[in-house]
Amino acid sequence: MTEQTPMNEATARPVLLPDAQTVTSVQHWTDRLFSFRVTRPQSLRFRSGEFVMIGLLGDNGKPLLRAYSIASPAWDEELEFYSIKVPDGPLTSKLQHIQPGDQIILRPKPVGTLVLDALLPGKRLWFFATGTGIAPFASLMRDPDTFERYEQIIMMHTCRDVAELEYGRRLVESIRSDEMLAELMGDGFADKLLYYPTTTREESDHMGRITDNLTSGKAFADLGIVGINPDEDRGMVCGSLAFNTDMKEVLEGCGLEEGANSDPKQYVVEKAFVGDGI
Ligand code: FAD
Ligand code: A2P
Repeated sequence: MTEQTPMNEATARPVLLPDAQTVTSVQHWTDRLFSFRVTRPQSLRFRSGEFVMIGLLGDNGKPLLRAYSIASPAWDEELEFYSIKVPDGPLTSKLQHIQPGDQIILRPKPVGTLVLDALLPGKRLWFFATGTGIAPFASLMRDPDTFERYEQIIMMHTCRDVAELEYGRRLVESIRSDEMLAELMGDGFADKLLYYPTTTREESDHMGRITDNLTSGKAFADLGIVGINPDEDRGMVCGSLAFNTDMKEVLEGCGLEEGANSDPKQYVVEKAFVGDGI
């Protein structure tokens, strides 16, 4: 048990937190990023792409909760999360130290706009993410429903450097070689998933911001796709507020309109985090 797990002094056993789930594995990707898996409450039903509130007990004994996209698909028996480590962040300065066997709090009320039902049917589905914004797409990319609804799925992910892309790169690799998904989705499903990772502050095969690569046409040329149009293309956007705002402009420039759960249209957006002062 790590230091944040409260102990009952009389029994020397860990105190069960409200809505407690047990950490089953933790993987650190960089000094800014880690992922972890926890047990799933039996009653928890969610749609791939949704988020929940998770956290730890704060120093004052009250739950300290933050929104987190569920990175695992709806069929998975555990829940996976992909997290930033903010050095002075109230939650993540502690959460980054969790270990298997520890408990976290998970409020089982999933919500969110990055769900397939918030989009009208289409031919291609584009996922646009920066940083930890890939988390909801890690869920959707592993959901057979995504592949059933679309002919092509394009995952565009941009980070500052190559190491920050590693979680997404490994994920795509594992999806493409997953026998269970192949059995569920049929031969050739892996070819439907196109992956376009780029870096902005370190040399790599593909460089540049997603927005720039779309407006310059570079991404389309590299992917062999003519462009984005409102009849065939659907988009999901998840990143910082600045990224989301710029992406909205790009997509609306292509003629796509923003949808919601109650009003499905051609693209949807969700913040990957709430920035300073916002
Ligand atoms: P906070 O006080 O919450 O944040 C401090 C500062 O750190 C923020 O002002 C911002 O500048 C920066 N920051 C916070 N989160 C991030 C981030 N993810 N990437 C880059 N900078 C950040 N975070 C995740 O790591 N994974 C997720 O899957 C995730 N899903 C989210 C879904 C939604 C709908 C929202 C609104 C937020 C999500 N977040 C996610 C952000 C998360 O809720 C917390 O902000 C984050 O865990 C940091 O918590 P904290 O208490 O340590 O710091
Ligand atoms: P850049 O390095 O040019 O700022 P961060 O780690 O700061 O959250 O950023 C993650 C990635 O998102 C970085 O590669 C960053 O590029 C990119 N990015 C930040 N803001 C925008 C934006 N408004 N539009 C497109 N990409 C952005």
